Amino acid sequence: MANLFATKPLSLLTAEANEEGEHTLKRSLSALNLLTLGVGAIIGAGIFVLTGQAAAKYAGPAIALSFVLAGIVCAFAGLCYAEFASIIPIAGSAYTYGYATLGEFVAWIIGWDLVLEYAFGAATVASGWSGYLVSLLDQLHIHLPPQLITTYGNVLVMFHDKWTPLASLPAGIDASTLPHATGIFNLVAFLGILAITTILVIGIKESANLNSAIVIVKLGIVGIFLYLGIAYLLHHHELTQVNWHPFIPPAEGPTHFGFGGIAAGAASVFFAYIGFDAVSTAAQEARNPQKDMPIGILGSLVVCTVLYIMVSVVLTGLVNYRQLNVADPVALGIDVTGVKWGSLLVKIGAVFGLATVMLVMLLGQSRVFFSMSRDGLLPKWASAVHPKFRTPWISNIVVGTIVAFLPGLLPIDRLSQLVNMGTLLAFTIVCAGVWILRVRQPDLHRPFKTPFVPLVPICGIVSAFYLMVKLPLLTWVVLIIWLVVGLLIYFGYSLRHSKVQKLPAEMTTGRADT
Ligand code: ALA
Repeated sequence: MANLFATKPLSLLTAEANEEGEHTLKRSLSALNLLTLGVGAIIGAGIFVLTGQAAAKYAGPAIALSFVLAGIVCAFAGLCYAEFASIIPIAGSAYTYGYATLGEFVAWIIGWDLVLEYAFGAATVASGWSGYLVSLLDQLHIHLPPQLITTYGNVLVMFHDKWTPLASLPAGIDASTLPHATGIFNLVAFLGILAITTILVIGIKESANLNSAIVIVKLGIVGIFLYLGIAYLLHHHELTQVNWHPFIPPAEGPTHFGFGGIAAGAASVFFAYIGFDAVSTAAQEARNPQKDMPIGILGSLVVCTVLYIMVSVVLTGLVNYRQLNVADPVALGIDVTGVKWGSLLVKIGAVFGLATVMLVMLLGQSRVFFSMSRDGLLPKWASAVHPKFRTPWISNIVVGTIVAFLPGLLPIDRLSQLVNMGTLLAFTIVCAGVWILRVRQPDLHRPFKTPFVPLVPICGIVSAFYLMVKLPLLTWVVLIIWLVVGLLIYFGYSLRHSKVQKLPAEMTTGRADT
C-alpha cells in the first residue's frame, strides 16, 4: 500500500548527488561569502519596482515600516530553513530536504509550491525588467509601441516624453490634453523570458566571480541612487516637507494607508526578500554552519532591510508617493535629481541586475522540476537532458514558454502577490516541519540548530500566516486552485510512478540519520 509519508533514503540522495557531481560537501564558505550570496540573490524587482507601487497603493512613505515587518517574518523562516537544509549533506532545495525528512506528500506540496514561487517569480521580475528596459530605451529616444510595453487594458498617457500610467500623473495635469494609448500585451517582458530560457537551454556556468559581479552591480546602483537622492534632498527641504507629511497617510480603507496599509504593504514588498533561502540551502557548504548561518541569513536580511528602508525613504522624499505607481519608480526618483548619467546608470544596472534574478529563478524552477521528475513524481520529459548542451531543455522550453505569457498578460502586482502567497505557504510548512522533526527525531545530527524551538518556528508560522491574510482574496483562490491541481497530479500520477514508493518499506521509514 502506498505510504504518503515515505521518505527518500539518504543513501539514494547522496548517490544521485555524486552522479551529478553536485555532492558539495566541501565546507568552503565563510560568513562573508554567505552574506554576499544572500544579498546577491535578494535584491531585484522588489526594491526597484514594488517599493514604489506599494507606497502608492498601500502605505505611502510608511512603506519603510512595511519593509521592517516583512524582514522580521523572513528572519524567523530563514532560521528554520537553515536547520532543515543543514540536516541533508547535499546541495538541494526545500523539496529535497522535505523528501528526506518529512515524507513524500509534504515534499510534493513544497515542490509544487516552489514551482509557483520560481515560475511566477521569474514572471514578476520580467515585468519589472521590462519597465526599466523601456525606460532606458526612452531615454535613448527609442520609443517602442505603447500597446506592447504594458498589459491588456492599462491606459498610458504621454507625459514628459515618456508613456506613464494614467493613474500616476501628478495632480493638476489635464490628462485629456495628452496622447493616450491602451496596453494589449507586454511583449518586452515576454521576449525577456524567452531570451533567458534560450540561455538556460544552451547552458550557463554559475561561477563565484559572476555572483560577485552581480552583487557589485546591484549594490552599485542602489548606492548611486542613495547618494544622488540624499544629496538632492539635503538641498531641497521643501520637497520632503510636502512628500513625507504625513508619514503614515490616514486610512482610506482596510488596506489603503493607515496601519492596515503598512501590513498590506508588507505582504506586497515581501517579494523583495525572496531569495534569501539561497543562503540556507548553502548550509552544507558553510565552514562553520552553527555560527555562520545566522550571520549569513540574518546579516543579508539586515543589510537588505537597511538598504530597502533607505531607498524607500529617499524615494518617497523625491517623488510624492501617489505618483510612484509606475514601471520604473527608482528611475523616476533619480530623474527628479536631474542627474542624467545617474539615471542612465541606474537603468542599465537595473536591466542587468534584474535579468540575473530572472535567470536564477528559472534555473531554480528547472532544478525543482528536474528533481521531481527524476523521483518519478513528474513525467520523464521534465528531466530529459539535451545530448549536447546537457541541460533539461524540454522542461526549460515548456516552462519558459508558459511563463513568458504571464508578464505579457498580468500586471506585476498580481504576479508578485501570487508568488508571495506561495512562498509564505512554503515558509509555514518548513517552520512546522522543523518543529515536527525536532519532536520526532530529537537525536538527528543537525549541523545548524534553529534557536529557541518551538518559539521561532511558531513565530514564523504565525507571522507568515498574518501576511497571507493581508493578501487579496483572489490570491487565495488561485493558491487553492493551484494546490488542488497539484493534488490531482499527485494522486493521479505521482503516487503511482514514485520511485520511493517502490523501495522496500524499511528503507523509507523517515529516519534521516546522517
Ligand atoms: N527578491 C527578489 C526580487 O525582488 C526576488 O526580485
